[in-house]
Amino acid sequence: MRVSAASRAVLSCLGTGGTRRPTAAVVLKAFRPPVGETRVDLLHLLEDLRDAYPGALEETILTEIVANALDSGANRISMVADPATATFTAADDGSGMKRRELARYHDVAASTKTRGEGIGFAGVGIKLGLLVCEEVLTETRRGKTHVATRWHLASRHRAPWKWLPPPGLAGERGTAVRLKLRNALSPLVDTGFIEAALRRNYQPLLDPTFDAILAAHYPRGVSFEVNGRRLERQGWDAAETAPLALRLARRRKASAVGYLVREPAPLPEERRGVAISTLGKVIKHGWDWLGVAPATPERLGGLIEVPALAGSLTLNKADFIRVGPRGAAYLAYRKTIQEAVSRQLALWGDARDQAEESRRRAARPLERDLERVLVELAGDFPLLA
Ligand SMILES: Nc1ncnc2c1ncn2[C@@H]1O[C@H](COP(=O)(O)OP(=O)(O)O)[C@@H](O)[C@H]1O
Ligand SMILES: [Mg+2]
Repeated sequence: MRVSAASRAVLSCLGTGGTRRPTAAVVLKAFRPPVGETRVDLLHLLEDLRDAYPGALEETILTEIVANALDSGANRISMVADPATATFTAADDGSGMKRRELARYHDVAASTKTRGEGIGFAGVGIKLGLLVCEEVLTETRRGKTHVATRWHLASRHRAPWKWLPPPGLAGERGTAVRLKLRNALSPLVDTGFIEAALRRNYQPLLDPTFDAILAAHYPRGVSFEVNGRRLERQGWDAAETAPLALRLARRRKASAVGYLVREPAPLPEERRGVAISTLGKVIKHGWDWLGVAPATPERLGGLIEVPALAGSLTLNKADFIRVGPRGAAYLAYRKTIQEAVSRQLALWGDARDQAEESRRRAARPLERDLERVLVELAGDFPLLA
């Protein structure tokens, strides 16, 4: 076997050359093409994902599980929190999964969804559960398929799962996920936290105002149950309410629906400003995202649902994309909402410039008095003038 001068140089660097003639095996080993495989530090990846979501991890896990149920076409989502066993179980009556789909469900970045058609698309949501669980049990029923798996994070790099006989958590059709929490005091076993988080994150699904606009996506409606109690649906019962309905591109049907409310007293912090949702999931709230500054921001609230913006969601579902065509859609909607909200504020006399004008008018007599006093003082104390 011939070894070129260059190869000999490399081999001697590697300490295998020298005066001895290298064997073919040694040459082959040294020149093996550089193949490898991308490995994933799963724990690190999940922690980075967790940090990319705003708010508490438990709230994210809850909203992701609900998002999966909604995306599967569920019309009933029942949750059970059991502090005694440190478990949280969510069962839906959606499409369920075929055996192969349940296998894929455990793969990071694997999704069966198309962006814009639902709330999920990235294929990472359910994996966040691994961070707080001793075990994630998933059972699903679809047609003749009835299967279940058990899954956990075994080390930095490994999250093994295995099939197990279905324990009977799922109904006739749909999927059930049971989280066995590491922390027995996790908020996920607290029904108060679960209800508040559901109302905060899925407010439009619990408010009849949005039934019509959401019917295209959830034709049978959606109901939530927590420990056997159905969450009551209620609108925002405010002192003053102004409906908002936005028609884009001369469409007959409104592409965004909602309302603004005004209360005589300041609202709790988290209810101030306009919340924007897509497919029932609240994405942003407050005044900053909208870029409107009313005169009395603490007394004004509102909510607007824009189904088409599901296509502009960012991975963490806490914002909308601002670049490219998806970003343009968001910016166009934002501008239209800005205009509608500003119009209503003007009607209420709550626009900032209007408020400043009325403040100025109210202050005018005082200003005149002050001026007179100063003029008189200037007469007595010429240095003041
Ligand atoms: N409740 C459910 N019902 C039916 N399929 C589900 C459910 N939860 C998860 N899946 C399936 O598992 C996949 C992975 O879920 P997930 O990690 O949350 O990512 P994503 O929702 O972004 O696709 C989904 O694409 C879906 O096919
Ligand atoms: Mg998901």
